[in-house]
Amino acid sequence: MIVQEESLTIMQQLKASTQAQHDATENGAFNEELVKGRLPLNLYVESLGQLFLIHRALERRLRAFRAEMPALARVLRDYQFQETYLRNDLEFFGRNPEEIQPLDATRKFVAYIDRLADTTPMALLGVHYVFEGSNNGSKFISRAVKKAYDLSDGKGTHYLDPYGDQQKQYWQAFKDDMNAVGFLPPETDAIVAAAGATFEAVMHLHRELYEGAESKGSAHPASATASAPAAAKPAGKCPFHHG
Ligand code: HEM
Repeated sequence: MIVQEESLTIMQQLKASTQAQHDATENGAFNEELVKGRLPLNLYVESLGQLFLIHRALERRLRAFRAEMPALARVLRDYQFQETYLRNDLEFFGRNPEEIQPLDATRKFVAYIDRLADTTPMALLGVHYVFEGSNNGSKFISRAVKKAYDLSDGKGTHYLDPYGDQQKQYWQAFKDDMNAVGFLPPETDAIVAAAGATFEAVMHLHRELYEGAESKGSAHPASATASAPAAAKPAGKCPFHHG
């Protein structure tokens, strides 16, 4: 109902409109295997590499627009930029971030970010919301990852748990700041649409990482368990033309 939607804050709208996608992402094979500690280390590191390329593209744009858009200046905090955390994790695993090649899903994700920046820069906050929100669950995933790969002192898991004890407080600050901006209805719509598209993009990336490993014949999570589920199918129409 329109009346109900208008009475919801932007953060309530974002949560409600992406809940089903969140659950599909959470239950996708990539995350399931990661949480169960069964994802091969090389796939975990590869995912960090792809996320590095995505965050680098997104954060370059956010930093530039922050200087000229008060709404972005109101919401963005330096600690939210994840590129450095990913760089640290990759270097810990001996990977040179500058040499990472994008998968097809990553190329399309970055092209989408660039398109938003050129047409509707405010919508970049929808992309940012998905990653900032994902820190809520990633904090728990980091525990499984540390155990599975025998990691300690945050080495290799900086991206998954960037805020430590301040996670709750930083998430609340992000929600308060987003709600305080007072976005116009078309801006809200654009941000909500971008959040949905971002979940789809993340699911495509997870599928390419997981299924790509299978098709290349490298160590595949399904080899650890015969009952490993297929990666979740993305819901709705894909904005990235994956078919
Ligand atoms: C095994 C995987 C995952 C688990 C267990 C998980 C778990 C959680 C939990 C417990 C919350 C907090 C819910 C609340 O306090 O209301 C949350 C929030 C969130 N997660 Fe995940 N998550 C997972 C994967 C992901 C992924 C892959 C993404 C996107 C890249 C994501 C994006 C979000 C977002 C945007 C929120 C904030 C929702 C809101 O607006 O309140 N999550 N997640």
